[in-house]
Amino acid sequence: MGHEVCPWWVAYLIDNPLRRLIHKPEAIFRNYVKPGDTVLDLGCGIGFAALPLAKIVGDQGRVIAVDLQQKMLAILQRRAVKAGLGSRIQTHRCEPGSIGIATPVDFAVAFWMVHEVPDSREFLAQVRCCLKPDARFLVTEPIPHVRERAFRETLDAAQAVGLVLREQPRIRGCRTALFSRSPAEPSGVSLK
Ligand SMILES: C[S@@+](CC[C@H](N)C(=O)[O-])C[C@H]1O[C@@H](n2cnc3c(N)ncnc32)[C@H](O)[C@@H]1O
Repeated sequence: MGHEVCPWWVAYLIDNPLRRLIHKPEAIFRNYVKPGDTVLDLGCGIGFAALPLAKIVGDQGRVIAVDLQQKMLAILQRRAVKAGLGSRIQTHRCEPGSIGIATPVDFAVAFWMVHEVPDSREFLAQVRCCLKPDARFLVTEPIPHVRERAFRETLDAAQAVGLVLREQPRIRGCRTALFSRSPAEPSGVSLK
């Protein structure tokens, strides 16, 4: 499977009312996020996760929304302002091999994006570094676009960089993994 990056206009096709009905992002994230939290949305696209997360964290919280594509971030910013959530969302354009975030977060999510990252092990190691000790990190990948074997490789890479699989929550049409960070530093992991 290639690692093609989703074109910006496809984000409008996948971030639609039907998907929000099926996935109910607020219901998913309320299990892991509370008011005042700092959360990280990786590969945020036009805000499928970032916008509901901003509602949950409230005025005292913050969503750091990261994407490779400036166009995605610009659309997200417009949508956030329109929804009255602009002050809660900080956008960050990252580089392909570096998320470029050092802020410790209470929760991170990579919704339908890890399959687009060429070096998922390096990516997962960088995310781990951003997690507070009790933080959770939710990865979801679309079925059947991401086959079971490919997802298994992501789980193995996560374990290798010091992420612990806590559960695999049911989210319709998705392969999922909820991680915490292991207390011990994994051996042999060096960040670029
Ligand atoms: C399929 S879209 C999913 C968008 C959103 N998370 C959602 O569920 O609707 C994948 C997103 O990940 C972004 N992306 C791909 N590779 C990335 C990387 N290495 N770092 C950050 N974002 C990346 C793409 O630009 C795109 O916006």
